[in-house]
Amino acid sequence: MLASGDVRGNLLKEDLPTPALCVDLDALEGNIATMAAYARAQGRALRPHGKSHKCSAIARLTLAAGAVGACSAKLSEAEAFAAGGVESILVTTPMVGRHRVERAVRLATRLPGLILVVDHAQNADDLNAAAATAGVSLNVAIDLNVTNRTGVTPGPDAVALAEHLTRLPHLSFQGIQAYAGHTAHVVGFAERAAASHQAMAPAIATRRALEAKGIPCPWLSGASTGTYNIDGEMDGVTELQPGSYLFMDLDYNRIGSRNSPLYDDFANSLTVLSTVYSMPGREQAILDAGLKAFATDTPYPPVVRGIPGALYSFAGDEHARLDVRRASLPVSLGDRLELVIPHCDPTVNLYDRFFAIRGEQVEALWRIDARGMST
Ligand SMILES: Cc1ncc(COP(=O)(O)O)c(C=O)c1O
Repeated sequence: MLASGDVRGNLLKEDLPTPALCVDLDALEGNIATMAAYARAQGRALRPHGKSHKCSAIARLTLAAGAVGACSAKLSEAEAFAAGGVESILVTTPMVGRHRVERAVRLATRLPGLILVVDHAQNADDLNAAAATAGVSLNVAIDLNVTNRTGVTPGPDAVALAEHLTRLPHLSFQGIQAYAGHTAHVVGFAERAAASHQAMAPAIATRRALEAKGIPCPWLSGASTGTYNIDGEMDGVTELQPGSYLFMDLDYNRIGSRNSPLYDDFANSLTVLSTVYSMPGREQAILDAGLKAFATDTPYPPVVRGIPGALYSFAGDEHARLDVRRASLPVSLGDRLELVIPHCDPTVNLYDRFFAIRGEQVEALWRIDARGMST
């Protein structure tokens, strides 16, 4: 049944082999609807970042709710989403090197809605030459460095690059990508808003400078789950590209929302289901979801849903230790516990599939078809 993927009506959550990556459908659908409604109300396009879910089935759900397309971090992710039926994809990292350039052009020949980002004139020339050879026109945007990562410096350098792009016959200039990643997890809404305004102001000014020079720049894409309702209210930002809001994680829960110290704009839809498979004594339980079941880049461990006081710690690749001395409920051998995830994106990349769950029923099994697509 798992191999065929045809599980509807035939599988319960309690049947699942563990550790299992589970997505709660009511919560996921609520998150999709909440972000879509926000973007619509603000008159902004929504292009959710697929680096979080790596799953065409989830990309299609966001499209059905009104998203204009998807983002991908890597070209191979974009290839997987294109094969899964996504027609407009912004690849948010530059395509540098012969292998990437040629492959990106090949994808563009079958995906006219592909948009690539460029932050260097030499890369623009390489893309233009490859597009000429293939006989296609490539949609390109300038990637602005608003977060000390990739991107051309906002202002005159960016304007010069945009002018260069408009002179290349096989490139079609679309606008600006400005993703200020360092602001996404700033704790406190006011502090985050201040950081994001500071980061995004040069991007908005660059867009104005281009328009003033007569270079049409109808599109400026940015924002994260942390800043969607900050950037989404800035004059000049036309498109939002958050990703983690689909699942949420402990890393985002702690940053605070506009009106609450807990960030609760979106529900935690993603958990790892785990089994207690050893009880050495009364004070601890051993779980089957250890270092291989979670990304381990955050200082805080997974949290057991519904049992406050049960404290998780990693106990090796395959094991975790649960200190149950102060657990609010008894924990017994064979219990199946849901663990809320510290950091969603790199955790998803550890699994082959999501179990999509409503109540106790497994409604669907979604292949994480861009899993491991890191080139
Ligand atoms: C370029 C870009 N855009 C959007 C996002 C989405 O951010 P988040 O998952 O925090 O919503 C990311 C995440 O790292 C990103 O790198």
